[in-house]
Amino acid sequence: MSRPLIKKEHSEEISNRSSNPVFSDVADAFLSRRRFLQLGVVAGAAVSFPLLLKSENALAASGASPSKIAKAVSLGFTSIPVSSEDTVIVPEGYIARPFYRWGDAVGLKGNLPAFKKDGSNTTEEQAAQAGMHHDGMAWFSLPQGGESADHGLLAMNHEYIDNGMLFKDGVANWSADKARKGQNAMGVSVIEVKKNGQQWEVVRPSAFARRITVNTPMQLSGPARHNDLMKTAADSKGEVVLGTMQNCANGHTPWGTYLTCEENWSDIFVKKGEMNALEKRYGISDSDDSYRWNEVDERFSVDKTPNEPNRFGWVVEIDPYNPNSTPRKHTALGRIKHEGAAVTIAPDNRVVVYMGDDQKFEYIYKFVSDKKYDPANREANLSLLESGTLYVAKFNDDGSGVWLPLVHGEGGLDSSNGFANQGDLLIKTRMAADVVGATKMDRPEWIAVDPHAAGSVYCTLTNNSDRGKEGKAPVDAANPRANNVFGHIMHWVEENSDPAAPRFTWDILVMAGRTDGEDENAKGSMKGAAFGSPDGLSFDPRGVLWIQTDVSSSTINKKAYEGMGNNQMVATIPGTNEYRRFLTGPRGCEITGIAFTPDNRTLFINIQHPGEGGDDLTDPANPTAVSSWPDGDKAGRPRSSTVVITKADGGIIGT
Ligand code: FEO
Ligand code: CA
Ligand code: CA
Ligand code: CA
Repeated sequence: MSRPLIKKEHSEEISNRSSNPVFSDVADAFLSRRRFLQLGVVAGAAVSFPLLLKSENALAASGASPSKIAKAVSLGFTSIPVSSEDTVIVPEGYIARPFYRWGDAVGLKGNLPAFKKDGSNTTEEQAAQAGMHHDGMAWFSLPQGGESADHGLLAMNHEYIDNGMLFKDGVANWSADKARKGQNAMGVSVIEVKKNGQQWEVVRPSAFARRITVNTPMQLSGPARHNDLMKTAADSKGEVVLGTMQNCANGHTPWGTYLTCEENWSDIFVKKGEMNALEKRYGISDSDDSYRWNEVDERFSVDKTPNEPNRFGWVVEIDPYNPNSTPRKHTALGRIKHEGAAVTIAPDNRVVVYMGDDQKFEYIYKFVSDKKYDPANREANLSLLESGTLYVAKFNDDGSGVWLPLVHGEGGLDSSNGFANQGDLLIKTRMAADVVGATKMDRPEWIAVDPHAAGSVYCTLTNNSDRGKEGKAPVDAANPRANNVFGHIMHWVEENSDPAAPRFTWDILVMAGRTDGEDENAKGSMKGAAFGSPDGLSFDPRGVLWIQTDVSSSTINKKAYEGMGNNQMVATIPGTNEYRRFLTGPRGCEITGIAFTPDNRTLFINIQHPGEGGDDLTDPANPTAVSSWPDGDKAGRPRSSTVVITKADGGIIGT
């Protein structure tokens, strides 16, 4: 099969060729089922899904609640049906309104370019406008340090671009300027938002407004700063990188900073010569049909600038309250295809960050800081992610699990296996995880920590159609479904409810899938709203778990997903197994990005890539073939957009 002109969705390729045991002797699904029956799982569910959530145990294990809002005990809205309409639909009593669309002015003083619906905005204008493909997002109250729910900042990612949509004439007449416009359409936006009466508005101009792009200078921090593999002709010391890109999901810290995560950066870099082991393990592109920046900008040609890829694949910390601050790439958190970074605080005040590596058969990680969070010292907190221990997860077949440290000199992680020092190891994080024998997962996406159950953590495993295939990793207890096209949601509880603990117990919250049909492999274990390909995952302050789906645009409402409609957002309270559908998106989009105001009365989400028709670039002559959301203008372009959701009566979201 020829490769698409641009890989807009996830690569179907597998970079993990390691032979580390996927799971010791766990191919026998019956064995693990029997073990879990012995552990007392509900018998009915155990027939198909032996490891489903032992919810009472999980909740009993929880400690004191860090949330100030009382825990939700039930969902109050009526589940909506699936939809294939080209619009956002929410339950009766709720209002959903798009604002901050691709091309809307970010709010820079004296620089508020209007969106041109034919794609003719200039490269410079794009740097002052919302980027494409909104993804992860977080809320920061204004003034800083307060808990305002009607005035704040939204920081959000612009994950990737569609070169067919971005220009009036698509990729025709390719040039350095076109590549630069693409670079200006990725990265991060910081916008100021305010409630004016009942209506939310973007404040323009705003002193906080900022666009961070693929060319914004950022400092490297941690053990890989100054490493030889980080040095380039433009940065001989390995200290300063230009930009961040492929910004997928996110995190936010208790000290009021935003974490943006670099995911499919390997799609950007092209190498024509023979690849080394590191380049292969991270799936550097060898295709002429990639983003084409490499043709006009040597930085993205690995043949010409071999170390530049090593400077991507990190978690980046941004201070949204200081528009002049320099973002920092924290190498202590490892180099992977970072989906998100879920932050929590351990009982001893160390910072814990959970992270997924989103590719087939990749791993789940956590970082534990060396130093402790001090609520009274923001300046000191800004260095907490610079040093600590990175771990990778091993899920045992008996429901236990262990965090394996990735520390130079331990567990074979030394020069005998190709790791010269800790910085070198972190640049090669995936290879270090291979050596210690981490568990290969079905594409780890977002991770969420229950605000009402200390040490209780959830992770979406979006799908993996290669699980169990000949020559690929077999099913195991944690990834129990062959040809897993619907995905599942993993749950674990840290030992003693302590996020910094070295061990945990785990189970599966839900197997995603259909609630109709006879195909056992396609069956969802939920009661209520069927869904597949879970991706975005977040708790609201009340402990309702929100799940957003990303069925790939070539599969939406087709094939195994026929009749399941457009991508959607569902809600559940863990332990109930009841799922209600809260939102359905327009055609061709995924739903992503979740941010609640502290009062739980406003929800911001992102609609990414409405109108995407599959793996090919959008035809610039017919960009609205699939969708014309949100503007409804057939002569315009579909636009990724933030959507603000409130209750008509001003009430709490989810009631
Ligand atoms: Fe960018 Fe794994 O989603
Ligand atoms: Ca995602
Ligand atoms: Ca997607
Ligand atoms: Ca996804």
